[in-house]
Amino acid sequence: MMTPQQQLQQIFTRFVEGQTVFKDRGALTMTFTPVTIPHRDDKIAALGRIMAPALKGERPSNLFVYGKTGTGKTLVTRFVTSELEKVAAANGHKVQVIYTNCKLKKSADTEYRLIATMAKEIGIEVPFTGLPTDQVYRIFFDAVDKQPQNIILIADEIDTLVERNGDEILYNLTRMNSELKNAKLTVIGITNDLSFLDRLDPRVRSSLSEEELIFLPYNALQLQDILRGRSEVAFIPAGVEPGVIEKCAALAAQEHGDARRALDLLRVSAELAERGAETKIGLAHVDAAQEKIDIDRVVETVKAQPRQSQAVIQAILNLAKKTKEVDTGNVFDAYQIVCQAHGLKVLTQRRVSDLIAELDLFGIIHTKVISKGRYGRTRIITLNLSDSIINKLETLLLQVFAG
Ligand SMILES: Nc1ncnc2c1ncn2[C@@H]1O[C@H](COP(=O)(O)OP(=O)(O)OP(=O)(O)O)[C@@H](O)[C@H]1O
Ligand SMILES: [Mg+2]
Repeated sequence: MMTPQQQLQQIFTRFVEGQTVFKDRGALTMTFTPVTIPHRDDKIAALGRIMAPALKGERPSNLFVYGKTGTGKTLVTRFVTSELEKVAAANGHKVQVIYTNCKLKKSADTEYRLIATMAKEIGIEVPFTGLPTDQVYRIFFDAVDKQPQNIILIADEIDTLVERNGDEILYNLTRMNSELKNAKLTVIGITNDLSFLDRLDPRVRSSLSEEELIFLPYNALQLQDILRGRSEVAFIPAGVEPGVIEKCAALAAQEHGDARRALDLLRVSAELAERGAETKIGLAHVDAAQEKIDIDRVVETVKAQPRQSQAVIQAILNLAKKTKEVDTGNVFDAYQIVCQAHGLKVLTQRRVSDLIAELDLFGIIHTKVISKGRYGRTRIITLNLSDSIINKLETLLLQVFAG
């Protein structure tokens, strides 16, 4: 047995001597551009072919890229367009890529802000408020059309933009092209919302998706290759025990083949190993990482809920301590008690049922309707959360209701 002092000494020494599994921890962050992009050759080639006309000053088709989260859409699109920019420059053609992530409220909250952000990307300062939207378009349009050039406009997570502002904006952007005299504009829309195109106005849909690229989820073997590529950069040789990569890949493949999830698992595993002053990532670290990521996800979701939903969660947690099968009728009683304790307005039973259904959608609880014979039907709630998540949630809710 080591004394606490010896233990700490070992941690400090290892840290100072640089004993860590990491060689380059940046390689596992989301902003890192990997050196290799395994299993996306076909997408890279397809996108390259669609964009190639820009190298001759012709207009590439507008393109719509879709597929589930973590399938490499952003990575591949940014990679291909930035290579295009470089090759074009070497060939004496001007290609400018403007990338905006529409999910970031700061840059794409409204149509106005999006255009202002895009103008800024090409070096034109537009005040972030105050002008009529028409005029912002005009400024952007003139800046674009000042010279012969290809502008490739990437609107990532485009569904969030349309959700907030309607699809008029896409119409305006795709239409802009027919008015340009010198420049040519291509719009690339990216989304992980698979039903997004169906909800668009057909007119907008047909102009936005002249071409479409679908990214399918990775399988476990493909995820392994992605993880191996990253590990070589990120970790010291022999820093990863056999089976670790396979396990991270398998867990992520179970969810839906999300490379981000796989990389997160590996990164958190490595951080846990490092925190334990160990120089090898083992299978136990992956288990712990999985648990930690789950906890963080549930805690973040609950944190982001409105106060009333938090009261419903509190009520469910209170009941779950007493009985295994929580039914919605009981939740309403327990919810009223929570509201009284914290001075909250009591919503109707119907509203509370809606909130419960919402929590089910978020995956925090699981509800099932069962028949009670002649007593009608009732909804049974189960919590599929581990004890440690429940503990974390209780602490969180204590803080929420105290503050
Ligand atoms: N084939 C691949 N090779 C190496 N890394 C990859 C590959 N595919 C994805 N990644 C990495 O996985 C993470 C997620 O990829 P990306 O951001 O491109 O996903 P996405 O499809 O845009 O997801 P979302 O819809 O959530 O935005 C990134 O860190 C990316 O670098
Ligand atoms: Mg993306």
